[in-house]
Amino acid sequence: MSTQSGPKKRVTIHELRRMKESGEKIAMVTAYEATAARLVAAAGVDAILVGDSLGMVVQGHDSTLPVTLDQMIYHSVSVRRGLDRDGARAHLVGDMPFGSYQASADDGVKAAMRFVAEGGVQAVKLEGGADFVEVIRRIVRAGVPVMGHIGLTPQSVHALGGYRVQGREDVAAERLKADAKALEDAGAFAGVLELIPAPLASQITKALTIPTIGIGAGPACDGQVLVLHDMLGLNDRFSAKFVKKYAALAEDVRGAVRLFAAEVREGRYPGPEHSFGK
Ligand code: KIV
Repeated sequence: MSTQSGPKKRVTIHELRRMKESGEKIAMVTAYEATAARLVAAAGVDAILVGDSLGMVVQGHDSTLPVTLDQMIYHSVSVRRGLDRDGARAHLVGDMPFGSYQASADDGVKAAMRFVAEGGVQAVKLEGGADFVEVIRRIVRAGVPVMGHIGLTPQSVHALGGYRVQGREDVAAERLKADAKALEDAGAFAGVLELIPAPLASQITKALTIPTIGIGAGPACDGQVLVLHDMLGLNDRFSAKFVKKYAALAEDVRGAVRLFAAEVREGRYPGPEHSFGK
């Protein structure tokens, strides 16, 4: 009998598929560094996304467009390290940044392979539907699982004319249904549905055998994802109807640092219990 106490078994793409089949919802959040990754994994999420949303919530840009592949890999390495330290089970997905796969399928395959080999992710996510089946097929054939992402695709913010709900008109809804089917046919193991009407997300979810992970796409999706800084109320410059704030960390941080600064100024910190005698 083995007494090995190695890492817990990592969630695989097959486990995520099984969850859809058995009706168990998939919980995914973003993380960009080791400490947050450890915390969210310990809270029991099924999957962690190193999202290119880090361009906005970590780097302070007003879009995800300036984020590079090297930066994504840097953050993935930190997240991977945090997860491995605790033997965490969460499935780790890396977000392919703008420019890493749009120009050619060769670019996409090379970027995905670097993400896995250097960044330690188990799968990559990329934005786009039917127009991206070739690159998805090629990455999957290279042995890297792909999570699709349709609806509001933030890397196309300029083409879409802003961050707004997609698929409201019949033609656009039909296009999204076709995009979803194209992702599945190309070999994607799951698909993010971002900012689309709940009834449309429900139809897409029922039509696919792969799990859908919603963000602003209603309750019928097979799982849900949120940006960690948004759901923790840390990003207090952003609020949206679909984001539920499960904490108010921005206020907590301001309050704690305000207290620290006041105690330093008044000579109340450090006290004897925080100081060394000899
Ligand atoms: O970059 C990101 O965090 C994402 C999620 C919002 C799905 O793509």
